[in-house]
Amino acid sequence: MTTELGETILAEKEIRARVTELAARISADYADKEPLLVCVLKGAVFFMADLVRELTIPSELDFMAVSSYGSATDSSGVVRILKDLDANIEGRNVLIIEDIIDSGLTLSYLRKNLRSRNPASVEVCSLLTKPSRRKVDIACKYVGFEVPDKFVVGYGLDYLEQYRNLRFIAVLSEEVS
Ligand code: IMP
Ligand code: MG
Repeated sequence: MTTELGETILAEKEIRARVTELAARISADYADKEPLLVCVLKGAVFFMADLVRELTIPSELDFMAVSSYGSATDSSGVVRILKDLDANIEGRNVLIIEDIIDSGLTLSYLRKNLRSRNPASVEVCSLLTKPSRRKVDIACKYVGFEVPDKFVVGYGLDYLEQYRNLRFIAVLSEEVS
């Protein structure tokens, strides 16, 4: 079985326009709050880099790496922190930047973990969401696009570390060869 790129579901232009809209909302909501944007590595790197350059307010960046045990396409909900934040987030307004919310298990863990450090607030901004796959409820304040229950790649999203560098988002299709 091999994989190949299928239909493009989000073009570069659409993504750029939506990122600009989200940045405008975040700039308005977080004026005078100097949010700490927490990028969940690696998938959200491209999204965060584009988003932060559209913000019109002061902000700071930090990074976290987590591994969720599971297969290449499914997470198990058992999450391990591989790289923790550099910043002390006590009293800070934290905005978690994610690439996609699928089952919600990774984010649910991450959010609980960050909340226990006494920040002023913790919200989530995810480029994509697949609501039909949800196993736990996750309140996500900022969402870019809803996508169907298909495995998608590009603009940071990978399949076995490939396809992250695409400027658009496409469905990964399986081909029996
Ligand atoms: P969750 O814990 O099931 O919500 O998984 C979230 C993580 O799984 C994301 O941060 C992605 O790394 C990965 N993931 C889920 N769905 C996709 C997809 O369609 N394409 C690429 N990665 C995905
Ligand atoms: Mg991944």
